[in-house]
Amino acid sequence: MQFPEFNTPRLKLVRLTEDDSKDIFTLFSNDKVIEYYDLGALTQTSQALSLINFFNSRYTDNTGVRWGIRLKESNRLMGTCGFNTWSPKMKSADIGYDLHPDFWGYGFASEAITEILNAAFTGLLPCGKLNRIQADTIPGNDASEALLLKLGFKEEGLRRESGYWKGMFHDLKCFGLLEYEYVKSTLVVEKC
Ligand SMILES: CC(C)(COP(=O)(O)OP(=O)(O)OC[C@H]1O[C@@H](n2cnc3c(N)ncnc32)[C@H](O)[C@@H]1OP(=O)(O)O)[C@@H](O)C(=O)NCCC(=O)NCCS
Repeated sequence: MQFPEFNTPRLKLVRLTEDDSKDIFTLFSNDKVIEYYDLGALTQTSQALSLINFFNSRYTDNTGVRWGIRLKESNRLMGTCGFNTWSPKMKSADIGYDLHPDFWGYGFASEAITEILNAAFTGLLPCGKLNRIQADTIPGNDASEALLLKLGFKEEGLRRESGYWKGMFHDLKCFGLLEYEYVKSTLVVEKC
């Protein structure tokens, strides 16, 4: 299946290419972006190219997908989002997202994630129509939690010391969204 690309009122969700190395480097070398990630800040553009290849391999291997998020107005690549893993068998996927801090607080993450949730819950991706999308956050990542709750995700509990990176254990806060809940919350929004 050809790489699926999407448009929202202000954004384009596109396949990343090696031409994006500089912008991906700017994104993932920013300490604020990777603060809660199991990834150290990038120090060389060659690492950005490896990351782009890694993101694209998810799609070619049919294990997930990562889009670049471009601002239509300027064509600037300001972030990425996607499904880190998906399981056609279980009809579920794990979601991930990041924006450069210059673009935080304008509703861009909500706009991009709404679009990919729609794609996943209506069967527009090679994983088929999904029933469940989940996300893990690190306690303290208030922006990520606020985004998930705004989109209708429910907090499902804490997996204690489930992760280990940057020399320490990390609790993971689990969030989940089911297809019928998403439809319901969309209907509520439309009625308002
Ligand atoms: C998570 C992230 C993408 C959110 O981006 P954003 O631009 O703030 O997202 P939005 O503007 O769409 O905001 C979504 C909601 O979260 C709220 N929010 C954003 N930052 C917040 C914060 N620090 N504390 C509380 N609420 C916050 C917004 O007010 C908005 O709710 P509202 O519409 O009811 O006002 C961004 O902070 C980021 O890239 N962080 C670094 C990468 C990361 O941690 N990714 C997630 C890993 S789990």
